[in-house]
Amino acid sequence: MAMESVANSVQLPPLDNPNERSAVGAELQVVLQDLIDLSLIGKQLHWSVVGAAAHSVHLFLDELVGEWRELADVVAERAVTLGFVPDGQSSAVAAGSRVEAVEVQSLADHAVVWELGRRVAAVAERIRERLGSIGAADLVTQDVLIKVVGMLEKHQWLLRVQLGQKA
Ligand SMILES: [Fe+2]
Repeated sequence: MAMESVANSVQLPPLDNPNERSAVGAELQVVLQDLIDLSLIGKQLHWSVVGAAAHSVHLFLDELVGEWRELADVVAERAVTLGFVPDGQSSAVAAGSRVEAVEVQSLADHAVVWELGRRVAAVAERIRERLGSIGAADLVTQDVLIKVVGMLEKHQWLLRVQLGQKA
């Protein structure tokens, strides 16, 4: 058994539950789609925002978009590490993203913050719900996704405070 484990680890990391390899890959694919879509919606709102706070919201959204793109990269590379080729193309994102699109129109600064905040919260919640089962299959992937949820929840807070909501 030990020999097999070592031989296997030369090619692919051994998972806590090797039968779950494709399920872990599929999970990472779904998270990748949501993160890419979030970054696209963030850009859309970066262009759509109007109002007294438009300038600061506009700049802040670019920061968030940059962080979501980095998180997407980390998630995609975890998938490849496990021997699964992720699809981050627009066709895959359009077909598989669970993030709600925004209207193509100008949107007031507070509405932008609200609309984005609830989408970030929804993505974070969906990943959080799956952490237990992912951990049973692969603790290292769980760790990657815990960091994603941590970042998204931080973003949720940074958006929430802009609406003047207290902790
Ligand atoms: Fe810009």
